[in-house]
Amino acid sequence: MPDTVPSANVRTTRVVSSDQLRDLLAETGATVRDSVRLSELTTLRVGGPALLAECASTDSLVATVKTLDAADIPVLLVAGGSNLLIDDAGFDGVVVRIATTGIDLAADGVLAEAGAPWDTVVADTVAAGLGGLECLSGIPGSAGATPVQNVGAYGVEVASLLRRVHLLDRKTGEVRWVEPAELGFGYRTSVLKHSDDGVILAVDFALDPTGRSAPLRYGELAKALDAADGETRPVDQVRTEVLRLRAGKGMVLNPTDHDTWSAGSFFTNPVVPAERLPEVMAAITAHVGDAKVPTYPAPDGTKLSAGWLIERAGFAKGFPGEPAPARLSTKHTLALTNRGAATAADIVALARTVRAGVAERFGVTLEPEPVTVGITL
Ligand code: EPU
Repeated sequence: MPDTVPSANVRTTRVVSSDQLRDLLAETGATVRDSVRLSELTTLRVGGPALLAECASTDSLVATVKTLDAADIPVLLVAGGSNLLIDDAGFDGVVVRIATTGIDLAADGVLAEAGAPWDTVVADTVAAGLGGLECLSGIPGSAGATPVQNVGAYGVEVASLLRRVHLLDRKTGEVRWVEPAELGFGYRTSVLKHSDDGVILAVDFALDPTGRSAPLRYGELAKALDAADGETRPVDQVRTEVLRLRAGKGMVLNPTDHDTWSAGSFFTNPVVPAERLPEVMAAITAHVGDAKVPTYPAPDGTKLSAGWLIERAGFAKGFPGEPAPARLSTKHTLALTNRGAATAADIVALARTVRAGVAERFGVTLEPEPVTVGITL
């Protein structure tokens, strides 16, 4: 155990040995593993070594995080690992792996433990004829991670279906159910992103028992299903189509396809405030001529497509080509991919190149979507 008493609010970096950690967590039910390569726990497959405490039950997860916090040991929570870019140096504290898997279907919803694989949750609800989550099919990661960045695809965001979130408040040690209104949801964000204060233990979604999908709002998907804007379809049809569209973009995990060794979209789609839009559009016209620029209305401006901007800034699919270990996906420019031997440093260098190129050509600064650990872009 650390040998000094922490002062309030000060988190000092101290490394514990695996034996010390085993003693410390003896009563928590966590399994301690030494020198785990974090690259094995992330979909980008980069990240150095760390000490790991694996928690297979919610009680174990709560007890483990509380014990580590009381001992002032830095904690990194990892579940599906699909939205994490971790430094090659690894992590100095303890990685707590959320390995809960419970999925509880009800007549009008689903309650899933934080570690349950997200796509299993979606598949189970679709198989049960529950509507709402089908547009979110094929997304890697865990159920508990979805509220953190308000995961969304094909016109649906988790925030719109969440009934409540079971949360451990690390400041008070309290475990409670929280209403969506308290979580400050926005496009790919919530109060839980970029803060370590809350640990999601479970998520509860309210779903439609009629077996119909959410209203189809996303042009590409509606077109593929031959649906007018706002129409619904049977949930299983929508799931099948979403999986097909996502797979075509390399956004469904496949160990043999390096285009899927990614963190999904690496940048969020930039929202340009009204006063800056003419200038950005002028820069786009200057560089690419009269193009049809994809734009989407957003609460605080106009959302542009990061993938489109990246490609028009001169970064083609697959950039920079062989033999670079980190490249853009050959199917979608918004996914930065590991071709097998990439390090975090390689991914970061590619991200910086792309970001600088887009900023230089169009005056738009792209923001990374994954949570970075030990890395600043
Ligand atoms: N585009 C290109 N080149 C490309 C890829 C796309 O020019 O290589 C253009 C497309 O032609 C289209 C536009 O970019 O006009 C948008 O592309 P897409 O429909 O694939 O959507 P996206 O905005 O790139 C977002 C989400 C995805 C989500 C899809 C579908 C963000 C940052 N990304 O991607 O979410 O699956 O819409 O709804 O909002 C994720 O967050 O990790 C993610 C994969």
